[in-house]
Amino acid sequence: MGIEQRSNTGDGLVPAASPAGAATMRAAVQHRYGPPSVLKPSEVGLPLPGRGDVLVQVGATSVHPGDYFVMTGEPYVVRLVFGLGRPRHGIPGRDLAGVVAAVGKDVTALRPGDKVFGWSTTGTLAEYACVPADHLVSMPANLSDVDAAAVPTSGMTALQALRDIANVRPGQTVLITGASGGVGSFAVQIAKAFGAEVTGVCSTRNVGLVRSLGADHVVDYTETDFTRTEKRYDVILDNVEAQPLAAVRRTLTPTGTLIPNSGRGGRWLGPLGRIVKARVLSGFTRQRLKPFTSVGKRQDLLTLADLLTTGQVTPAIDRTYPLDEAADALRHVAAGHTRGKVVVTV
Ligand SMILES: NC(=O)c1ccc[n+]([C@@H]2O[C@H](COP(=O)([O-])OP(=O)(O)OC[C@H]3O[C@@H](n4cnc5c(N)ncnc54)[C@H](OP(=O)(O)O)[C@@H]3O)[C@@H](O)[C@H]2O)c1
Repeated sequence: MGIEQRSNTGDGLVPAASPAGAATMRAAVQHRYGPPSVLKPSEVGLPLPGRGDVLVQVGATSVHPGDYFVMTGEPYVVRLVFGLGRPRHGIPGRDLAGVVAAVGKDVTALRPGDKVFGWSTTGTLAEYACVPADHLVSMPANLSDVDAAAVPTSGMTALQALRDIANVRPGQTVLITGASGGVGSFAVQIAKAFGAEVTGVCSTRNVGLVRSLGADHVVDYTETDFTRTEKRYDVILDNVEAQPLAAVRRTLTPTGTLIPNSGRGGRWLGPLGRIVKARVLSGFTRQRLKPFTSVGKRQDLLTLADLLTTGQVTPAIDRTYPLDEAADALRHVAAGHTRGKVVVTV
């Protein structure tokens, strides 16, 4: 497929009708911030890849809480990045798996027909997405589009939290809350791959899932509050932050690392208040309190591809939705009870 240059509108979308005869695609489009009902199946022009970009024919794309924040524009702080008055990119979604349809002039590592997975910053809930070449890696042969699309953001978050922030070593005790969710289901498997003794916290219906991911111990939060047991952990990855920071810290060893990782919070600043509190407190204790923001890194996606190829990590898929029901996929994520990842097939 040739790459043609066409002008786009203020929200990053190419109008389907202009110029006459231009190629179009199906996409889930929003013209304003709001609840999932703002997302409409629409026909728009293909995105415009630059010299270093790849046009990917999307096979599947996963959705997660961050996509919901960007779609609603809440907490409002996200609008500083994604557009003050309305979303800068009219198509939500970040993670994708699919096949290379075309490459820009400067791209040499990928060719049309290659199977890839990775992340885009300009929208993936569409038949095609435009992605910088260094946001993509080859898809392991043992993975389906659905499995591969589930990996990038949640997998990289779990990997960076456990490896880069907590420096998890063999034999350490690691507790993961939200172990049945998108980040947690990867974190349990990655912590096991690092040789840790892993405890997953989840509800009764997910005990079997979290065990099957490899957790050595499972705490059912409907029966036991992990902050009220005698057990102490070297590392806590708290994806939920349902308990007060002080209580979670009591569950940490004196020099342990706590990663508060819930993106939820107030309407204006989201989790920023808690992040500042943790940073200030960490100056007064030997415990390491380390909120962090994950970053897309091609090298980390390659590390995940290795873990997926060797079977040390297998994506847990909750449900799949067709593209025209993308709004329902985001509603499901927003409810906060996913079991692994929610994927939209295209
Ligand atoms: N730091 C970063 O850069 C970064 C990157 C990505 C995501 N995040 C944040 O990480 C958090 C987790 O993301 P995610 O994609 O894993 O979310 P998710 O998939 O929506 O997680 C939902 C899971 O949490 C479980 N859960 C709810 N309440 C719980 C509790 N009290 N104890 C234990 N488990 C509980 C749910 O199980 P039940 O149905 O059984 O309740 C469900 O399985 C989000 O807040 C997200 O914003 C941060």
